[in-house]
Amino acid sequence: MPLVSMRQLLDEAAKGGYGVGAFNVNNMEQIQSIMEAARETKSPVIIQASRGARAYSQDRFLYHLMIAATEIYPEIPTVLHLDHGNSVETCKSAIEMGFTSVMMDGSLMPDGKTPSSFEYNVDATRQVVEMAHAKGVTVEGEIGCLGGIEDGHGAGLDGLSHLTDPDQAVEFVKQTGLDALAIAIGTSHGAYKFTSKPTGETLKMERLIEIHKRLPNTHLVMHGSSSVPKDLQDIINQYGGKLKPTWGVPVEEIQLGIKNGVRKINVDTDNRLAITGAIRKVFMEKPEEFDPRSYLKPAREAMKKVVALRMTQFGQAGHAGDYTPISLEEMADRYAAVAQ
Ligand code: 13P
Repeated sequence: MPLVSMRQLLDEAAKGGYGVGAFNVNNMEQIQSIMEAARETKSPVIIQASRGARAYSQDRFLYHLMIAATEIYPEIPTVLHLDHGNSVETCKSAIEMGFTSVMMDGSLMPDGKTPSSFEYNVDATRQVVEMAHAKGVTVEGEIGCLGGIEDGHGAGLDGLSHLTDPDQAVEFVKQTGLDALAIAIGTSHGAYKFTSKPTGETLKMERLIEIHKRLPNTHLVMHGSSSVPKDLQDIINQYGGKLKPTWGVPVEEIQLGIKNGVRKINVDTDNRLAITGAIRKVFMEKPEEFDPRSYLKPAREAMKKVVALRMTQFGQAGHAGDYTPISLEEMADRYAAVAQ
């Protein structure tokens, strides 16, 4: 099965009332972890690469690894998504490369740091929608700004400064015609999201519920949704790491989101923690080892475990075989028919 559009996965998730994890990758081992977890749990898959990941890997490598994934795991509907595209040009190059879904994050200026105007955001996102839909490619947009900047993308704010305004969200969806909407409800990228377990004061689930009520047919996206579990922090620190105490987004809050229109959940940090913990363990326990496989295999296994758990918790498990993939050409025809 070729790579499929994200729109189809999210439409199916909405029908089934579940969410789909979108996991970030930079290399072969991470892709393998996700595909193995998907096979084990029979889950549809969204794999995403940020601009940083594309630069790190030279994205042609990533693209061909993804083609290998579709050959080795033909039973799994698999999406290749651009995470946080910072400009129309970046999205264009991803589409030309073969990504089947792109995020145009026009909530920030192309520097990835400075909050933009509503008009700028609408204009950039609409341009990407026109270009992408002509090829059957899915578009995610963002309104409101996330906190944090650890991954090089985010306004460096505290997460609460630029929450999504529900009125603007409605207007944004209407004016852009996008497929999925990322909203800001107090989360941020990276490990250091909250200094204690989040409450309604710091993680604004009420805001999400309000937006869903106003936009019941729009697929919502939660960014910065790693749970940063204590056990993964502890493994790193047990083997010489120096993580400070921190809290992420509890899985039960994500599940509440899924009941209220969230269809895509972005997770990167939890996998990074799992990988690093496994590698540190080998380095401390077997300092004589120098074959990279001796630590990359346990790292791959540790990430697979986290991904499989999230797939089950988000509800996508068991749904890989529910539907026949629609080709990008067919998706393009459908978008064209709706536009007329
Ligand atoms: P985390 O840092 O919480 O994993 O978030 C990842 C993300 O939102 C990527 O866009």
